[in-house]
Amino acid sequence: FEKDTVLVIFGASGDLAKKETFPALFGLYSEGCLDPSTKIICYARSNVTVEQLKKSCLPYCRKSTTGNDEVKMKKFFNMVSYIQGQYDTDDGYIRLNDAIEDFEHERGVQEPHRVFYLAVPPSIFLTVASQVKKNVYAYNGITRVIVEKPFGDDLESSRELQKGFKPLFRAEEIYKIDHFLGKDDVRRLLTARFANPFLNQSWNKENIESVQVWFKEPFGAEGRGGFFDSTGIIRDVMQNHLLQILTLATMEEPVSNDADAIRDAKVELLKCMEPLGPKNVVAVGQYGKSVDGKKPSYLDDDTVLNKESKCLTFTELTFAIHNDRWEGVPIIMRAGKGLDEDRVEIRIQYKKNTSGMFEGCTPNQFVIHFHPEPTIFMTFNTKAPGFADKLHQIKLDMTYDQQYKKEWVPEAYECLIYDAFQGKYANYVRDDELDVSWSLFTPLLKYVEGPNAPQPEIYPYGSTGPKGILE
Ligand code: BG6
Repeated sequence: FEKDTVLVIFGASGDLAKKETFPALFGLYSEGCLDPSTKIICYARSNVTVEQLKKSCLPYCRKSTTGNDEVKMKKFFNMVSYIQGQYDTDDGYIRLNDAIEDFEHERGVQEPHRVFYLAVPPSIFLTVASQVKKNVYAYNGITRVIVEKPFGDDLESSRELQKGFKPLFRAEEIYKIDHFLGKDDVRRLLTARFANPFLNQSWNKENIESVQVWFKEPFGAEGRGGFFDSTGIIRDVMQNHLLQILTLATMEEPVSNDADAIRDAKVELLKCMEPLGPKNVVAVGQYGKSVDGKKPSYLDDDTVLNKESKCLTFTELTFAIHNDRWEGVPIIMRAGKGLDEDRVEIRIQYKKNTSGMFEGCTPNQFVIHFHPEPTIFMTFNTKAPGFADKLHQIKLDMTYDQQYKKEWVPEAYECLIYDAFQGKYANYVRDDELDVSWSLFTPLLKYVEGPNAPQPEIYPYGSTGPKGILE
């Protein structure tokens, strides 16, 4: 562990800090993965106390595996202090700097290690980042800046932000979050593929019929309409989370385990796709009222102000990866809110057997469920029990919670914060990765938000989505 690290959370009184950042920090602390010498300084505009912060994050904290949580919680919050300040003027940052220096002086720190977590709206990323550089940067030590998503909302705005950050911090000082990269099951993708060569060897156009990524949520944009209406499902989860899953599932094997080797391989893969546009859209939709009338339509939501909004809550795309491994294999990506179930998965659909004694038997599938229950399963053809030589397809099923009953599995934010403290950035998004992903999705966003935008099909809340989606 790094001793005497200072972690500053900007936006500490907000929703993200309450639901994700504090619970993750407490999780790390209670499992012995956050050094007790760490100093956590919260910074926000509101006038709140540490006690109030503690209360508000409590419902989101997980029980530790070793119990005694109340005592641990008390000790953990003894590491926390709060500074009220503005984001755009020096005053608060000067007080912040005093607090940091006092702590480091008291501990006799020679080489400061400071981590700044920007849990603030993107509109002030650069304001806060500039103030960090001006007032609290560790010139004689280590500075790391964690930035939440969204990093831009199209190629142009993402590049603008990158341009703003460039003179302030070196690339290895900036940690851009896509929280799906922190999920343990997403991190297992590379292991599943490359530590099991039999899988990797069949993972190509010769054997695979299609690759499908599915994101289904059984709830809508309730309460988040203000954010969602200017975001839409494509920006919210497809350009980032689902593209990350797809990239890890289809990229070539990195030359090493090194963070940049992994990110190089991801960028290489992304460069094999063409920018998306109208021809890639299979279906677009927006959820309406549920059939029983109990769940409101998207437009009925109080937080959706534009009552004529064409915002997409469902999109299905199909596209191609132009390289040796994948040429000709359809890639299908679907995401929707207000659907019939809670499921995030990638499904590798194998081709039909075209010869031999079992010609035409039901093709195999290899599936990874990320949510709600991390599982890897494969469909497998076997002989049905009994005298007859009947084929039967079963599931070879590996549910992680069953397999690793006693293990503590870190949550996404726990993994990411832990990595940032250690200076590991493989699971953070690099600028060129961001650039290619926005280059792919920006034309599509222009189309679905432009004057010739397709009319979203209204599907009932709680249903499988628009009609005509690919099976
Ligand atoms: C967020 C999106 O980034 O990811 C949400 O803004 C979505 O709309 C969420 O619900 C899904 O993440 P998780 O970790 O809850 O599966």
